[in-house]
Amino acid sequence: MTEARADVGIFGGSGFYSIAEDVEELWIETPYGPPSDKVALLTIAGRRVAFLPRHGKDHRLPPHRINYRANLWAMKALGVRRVIGPCAAGSLQPDIPPGTFVLCDQFVNRTWGRADTFFDGPITTHISAADPYCPEMRAVAARSCQRLGIDYRPTGTVVVVQGPRFSTRAESREFRERGWHVINMTQYPEVILARELGMCYLNVSLVTDYDAGLEGHPEVRPVTHQEVLRVFNSNLERLRTLLWELIPALPAERGCACGRAVEEARGGH
Ligand code: ADE
Repeated sequence: MTEARADVGIFGGSGFYSIAEDVEELWIETPYGPPSDKVALLTIAGRRVAFLPRHGKDHRLPPHRINYRANLWAMKALGVRRVIGPCAAGSLQPDIPPGTFVLCDQFVNRTWGRADTFFDGPITTHISAADPYCPEMRAVAARSCQRLGIDYRPTGTVVVVQGPRFSTRAESREFRERGWHVINMTQYPEVILARELGMCYLNVSLVTDYDAGLEGHPEVRPVTHQEVLRVFNSNLERLRTLLWELIPALPAERGCACGRAVEEARGGH
């Protein structure tokens, strides 16, 4: 990499930046194959931002087929230090209604078979995943939500399922009883691959549904893909407003330890 082309990376589609004027689109080559689509570069309030639609522009890639390593590598190759990963998510708790923005601080991985590390040998590196989400970005995002009057939660645990199907009532009950807050199919391994490359990661889970339903409320139907898309799209403008508010509010220098995860795993060498 010669010069940084972008500072902040966003996994989000063209719905976010279609009104921007100075957009440059480019394919990035990676050792892991092609990313999901071209990356769009633009400036938001003086910050260089890279957008990449994680499912591809025409949404042709289901969650288990996304080349997460290529997507994160492309961001790193552009010089990105901070990644924002908004996503649709189901609510597992009655007091987290659709429309809420959850700034997750933990995940539980229930996916399998995904290429989820850059440390595939011969060098063995075990990074800490105790706090996978950037605390500094979460605090900035929380303040932005407050300023904008958005219903949000400053913390939350997302259980990441393999998909592409949604969960059974029994699976969903188990997740709820364990106290997890939201459910999604793409947070893993996206967040952990960002960490392996020394990039900060912020998740904004946009709650679109109550997963398999809400106990005691038979009128709340189990989630459908159409419903996820409908609620997500109807909240896109609020999400865009949040991103445009929080990006300029990020401190120029990082005050967190995310960039040192690999160094710390290697004993500070
Ligand atoms: N994305 C949005 N809603 C979801 C749900 N209920 N389960 C898994 N992924 C989702």
